Amino acid sequence: MKIVCLLGSPRPKGNSTAMAARFCETAEGLGAEVATFALNKLKYRGCQACMTCKTKLEKCVLKDDLAEVLDAIRDAEVLILATPIYFAEISSQLKAFIDRTFSYLVPDYPTNPSPCRLSPGKKLVFIEAQGHPDESLFADVFPRYDSIFKWYGFSDSYQIRACGVFNKGDVESREDMMKLAEETAKKIMG
Ligand SMILES: Cc1cc2nc3c(=O)[nH]c(=O)nc-3n(C[C@H](O)[C@H](O)[C@H](O)COP(=O)(O)O)c2cc1C
Repeated sequence: MKIVCLLGSPRPKGNSTAMAARFCETAEGLGAEVATFALNKLKYRGCQACMTCKTKLEKCVLKDDLAEVLDAIRDAEVLILATPIYFAEISSQLKAFIDRTFSYLVPDYPTNPSPCRLSPGKKLVFIEAQGHPDESLFADVFPRYDSIFKWYGFSDSYQIRACGVFNKGDVESREDMMKLAEETAKKIMG
């Protein structure tokens, strides 16, 4: 099984990255092929709204570090998006990537029942780390992005969300969260 894992945190040993790492190690142990991209280390821009992907090409025209990431997802069965919560949202690194997935949409996407160029049936794993312990805060983030990926044709989605983790490494002592990452990987690997 091919998995693409995008790390949206700028902290190499941050909480969302630690949960993603536990997921990926578990999946690799069960035979998955994982390609991980630390978005903060890549050089790329957000969508330029040039519409070349709707008029001349079937992919994004920008030749920056995201080109390889966008291509890798076409072949993957599972996409992991790992992000800190920054000001009630996903990180800007991850948001700029999401904007570039506009290139996956066909020209008539507003009316086409199959709006996405990606093959259907991929799975989404959405990993979040937030400092605030109140789970009712920022609970809107996952459903919003989940509905976008469902529209893209993703079939199943899994949320792994740690609240009340602030400092680097806080989540390592939250065995419930690390276990959830492991169990989710086992479930997806079947
Ligand atoms: C710029 C910035 C904005 C943040 N905004 C929020 C926020 O709105 N709500 C919250 O609960 N935590 C917020 N935090 C705390 C992070 O969500 C928390 O440190 C989290 O563990 C970071 O995940 P990471 O370790 O994967 O980077 C913020 C932290 C930073 C640096």
